[in-house]
Amino acid sequence: MRVLELFSGLGGWRCALGDRGQVAAAYDVSEAANATYALNHGQEPRARELATLPLQELAEHGADAWLLSPPCQPFCRMGNHQGLADPRSRAFRHVMNLFQQAPPDHLVLENVVGFLGSDAHALLSERIRDQGMHQLDLQTCPSRFGLPNQRPRVYIVASRKPLKALPPPDLQPPPLAGFLDAVEDEGLYLQGEAHTRHYQGLDLVAAGDRRSACFIGGYGRRFVGSGSFLKTTRGVRRFSPAEVARLLGLPEGFRFPEHLPLEARYRLLGNGLSIPVAAWVLSHLPSR
Ligand SMILES: C[S@@+](CC[C@H](N)C(=O)[O-])C[C@H]1O[C@@H](n2cnc3c(N)ncnc32)[C@H](O)[C@@H]1O
Repeated sequence: MRVLELFSGLGGWRCALGDRGQVAAAYDVSEAANATYALNHGQEPRARELATLPLQELAEHGADAWLLSPPCQPFCRMGNHQGLADPRSRAFRHVMNLFQQAPPDHLVLENVVGFLGSDAHALLSERIRDQGMHQLDLQTCPSRFGLPNQRPRVYIVASRKPLKALPPPDLQPPPLAGFLDAVEDEGLYLQGEAHTRHYQGLDLVAAGDRRSACFIGGYGRRFVGSGSFLKTTRGVRRFSPAEVARLLGLPEGFRFPEHLPLEARYRLLGNGLSIPVAAWVLSHLPSR
């Protein structure tokens, strides 16, 4: 399978793809995302604004599948719920036009649960129907896949071949202890005013717990509702980017460019995919 990874971020779809296929090209407008992608996958994504990508450029890749995770803010619980009217949906609308003109054999989209029932979901379903393709709407969470992390997401799978929903696993997650760094970063502990002001509202977990809240892009600067904080005998601290990466199921060797600030690392991870879940979603695609 030749794949186009659109809105590629740090390359979650590529990690999940494994030997099911090959990424012909990845596209993302973010410099930080592209530097991280290139460092980990040895392929430079195209730094392009997808809202203006010419059809011919996309068609030239001869891809069988498009894997995409468009921005979720227009559909987020904490967002403005403007769906397609949100300027951040412009690129998605354009990709839908390209899909109408030059559809691949398969398409898989990931987004937040609020995507289901939105005008964007309706547009995608209409495009899939117009092409005579089959569609599966899946909804699941990594906490069912043996990961102590909540990240409920929806996945729309479309294919020219018939699709059948597979039952997701129902594995008990292990304690968070196994996902923590061997050496703690002291700088992650909340100090002074940050501690007193936000302590009450934090989602606190301990190393023995088997859950953590969804880490969002703003985890590096926000407190309440941005992800879990770890309570230890020494105080309360943020999870490190490496710990969040493990909770997402990214490979152990995953790394960031050295110069990339902490907040940018959290932003990329907060936008990312849960790899075992994404791999399960891709296993729905019929092999040739
Ligand atoms: C939800 S994240 C996707 C994350 C990705 N699946 C991963 O595994 O990291 C959305 C990505 O789309 C990119 N993006 C947003 N708007 C874009 C646009 N108009 N053109 C190209 N890329 C865009 C962002 O930079 C971000 O990396």
